[in-house]
Amino acid sequence: MFTVRAGIGDNLKYMTDPEVADQIIDVLLVFTEMALLDSVHREVESHFKRPLVATRFQSLLDAVDHLEKTKKQYGLIVFEHKSTSMTILRAFLEVGGSAAYILCGPDGTLIQGIDGSDTPIEFIHTDSILQELGKTINRLEVTGRIPLMRREESDYIVIRPDYLPSMGPLEATVYAQLIEGHYVPVFNKGDLVERQEVEKFLESKKLTHFYFRREDCTKMLVTRQQELDRAISKEPVDEKATTKSVELAHGMVRDVVNSMGFTPEAQKVAITSVSATIKLMGSKPKLSTILVDLKNKEGNYLTAHSLILGKAACALAFKLGWTSNTTYFKLTLAAFLHDLALNDDRLAVVFSLDKASESGSFTPEELKEIRMHSNKAADHARSMSEVPSDVEQIVAQHHERPDGTGFPRGLNAKFITPLSALFIIAQDLIEYSQNFKSKEVDLTSYFDAREAYFNAGVFRKIFHALKNDLKIL
Ligand SMILES: [Fe+2]
Ligand SMILES: [Fe+2]
Repeated sequence: MFTVRAGIGDNLKYMTDPEVADQIIDVLLVFTEMALLDSVHREVESHFKRPLVATRFQSLLDAVDHLEKTKKQYGLIVFEHKSTSMTILRAFLEVGGSAAYILCGPDGTLIQGIDGSDTPIEFIHTDSILQELGKTINRLEVTGRIPLMRREESDYIVIRPDYLPSMGPLEATVYAQLIEGHYVPVFNKGDLVERQEVEKFLESKKLTHFYFRREDCTKMLVTRQQELDRAISKEPVDEKATTKSVELAHGMVRDVVNSMGFTPEAQKVAITSVSATIKLMGSKPKLSTILVDLKNKEGNYLTAHSLILGKAACALAFKLGWTSNTTYFKLTLAAFLHDLALNDDRLAVVFSLDKASESGSFTPEELKEIRMHSNKAADHARSMSEVPSDVEQIVAQHHERPDGTGFPRGLNAKFITPLSALFIIAQDLIEYSQNFKSKEVDLTSYFDAREAYFNAGVFRKIFHALKNDLKIL
């Protein structure tokens, strides 16, 4: 059975921003009796119509201990408090942070005793926990204190058609939805499908994408994980095989994230892909080599772009003397994630929202998707366990610009962090290189052309340091 979990940040955001309503939340359950703990868990799952991994405790003190140590931000906490002790209750609410709470117990007046706390708590009497739980969670959802979750859980996961030819022999049967709710197999496991064949089929049926079964998707993520683990353990590293594994992994994670959320399996694949990319890149990444790769790249644009951007950002970091593994990890992971929320490669080449809008080539929905994708991807970054918060910030800021003309927030240089600034410069450099006619990119012309543009705040220092000695880039 497939399980999901993800984090939730600031609850308020969900009140104003229905775009993030697909979020899945982390759930904490505390009930003394195991049987009740199980029933409550099942009840929460049946309310959300999906299996949920919940963190469970049988004592409030153990839960306090856990909350003190964990970095996880719970979205929903359902707990039992049978005694009248306010001390333990206050301690619990304090460490639980901004979660939405449901207190189950014999005495509802306890809630009024929590003075000075601005945490709204729902109360359910001990006698009616299972009867009231669904309604209570629903109340939290409609008031925006927890995100509304997707209800129609399909057994089929949307797959972008361009993923299929890159797979080689298909690892699972591919389905098409010809009539609403009816999925028919169109390519069998083991088939080798060609791009033209895929396009012809879609065109004849007026469809835009295919499906894998949910369970097959999970199995394939495990296969991706095993391939990556094998690739990463080989000495010396097999460059071609590892690159292929990372590319397939990126494509798979992208489809899974957009259909099922950032599942633990997908997170693990993402992290291992990042380690594999760093291993391929080595400790002294060289920009000129990376940019040549960019010119030779075939296959899925968004995947190639994400992997090369990570390497380019690390090469710039190396030049600045920011050579720690942690910095490489943050930049490479941010690059892996930054455009994951985009469903269409066409949208990934947009660097200016104004120009995109003027061009008339995008629908209002597509423009909205472009505007929202940094925040959505940042939510994915935030949902990962044990990932430095800088990653989320880089992802959220990757389309901001030094003069404040970027999106989604239009931040100017003052509000952009050094790591984000470096990432933005790397992305700008890649955009420039893509449009550069000859095979070898003239870095001098790039740094001359963009100097004035990056002459602001934290960008200025970074840009000048990079420009100073282009030879070693
Ligand atoms: Fe991008
Ligand atoms: Fe982007």
